[in-house]
Amino acid sequence: MPVKVAPSLLSADFGRLREELRRIEAAGADWVHLDIMDGNFVPNITMGPLVLKALRPYSGLVFDAHLMVLHPESHLDAFAQAGADMITVHAEAAVHLDRLLREIKKRGLKAGVALNPATPPQVLDYVWDLLDLVLVMSVNPGAGGQSFIPAVLPKIEHLSRRIRESGRPVELSVDGGINGDTAPQVVAAGATVLVAGSAVFSHPQGMELIQAFKAIGGPRYPL
Ligand code: DX5
Ligand code: ZN
Repeated sequence: MPVKVAPSLLSADFGRLREELRRIEAAGADWVHLDIMDGNFVPNITMGPLVLKALRPYSGLVFDAHLMVLHPESHLDAFAQAGADMITVHAEAAVHLDRLLREIKKRGLKAGVALNPATPPQVLDYVWDLLDLVLVMSVNPGAGGQSFIPAVLPKIEHLSRRIRESGRPVELSVDGGINGDTAPQVVAAGATVLVAGSAVFSHPQGMELIQAFKAIGGPRYPL
């Protein structure tokens, strides 16, 4: 299976989000990754459901909402109604993770859990049946353009094995510091989705990187 690419709009031009969305779609992106920050779980504040709702009519991409917020349970309806296809919540922000995942699925959306670099994968041990996506943070959440933390590679390998054992179609996404050097490493460790912000939007050849990422493991590998 080719790897999926989910560019993060966090590094896009916020004055031209609709055009930026069109550019990544034309360049072959599979999903668009929307980083929602509340100024509490992480210091920054980015966008809310109104922005998703405004963009939704202009794209056929899967809308992958990454909620870096406290009390994610309070925002599920808003993001579901705004047109998110999947909602990923942080394990560290979930007091009742099982219930939260059930609430996401009850709304007809795919459910994901994000793990900070220091969070052990065992927090997922009793919720595998509810998961559609695991998002491994390879930087500490809160900002784009940070350096990849290699210590997460064994965690990606562990989760990849665990997903194979589960026999369920769970995507394994990696988010933070993904570029031409780190993408092959995380795919080799088992990642099935690459989230990339600054590599795609802050470099002149960034849009071409989307196809290069998708070719990892295929005939055009190595990058
Ligand atoms: C970080 C966000 C990431 C971020 C990645 O808190 O979750 O999605 O946009 O940015 P890069 O690819 O620049 O590390
Ligand atoms: Zn993210």
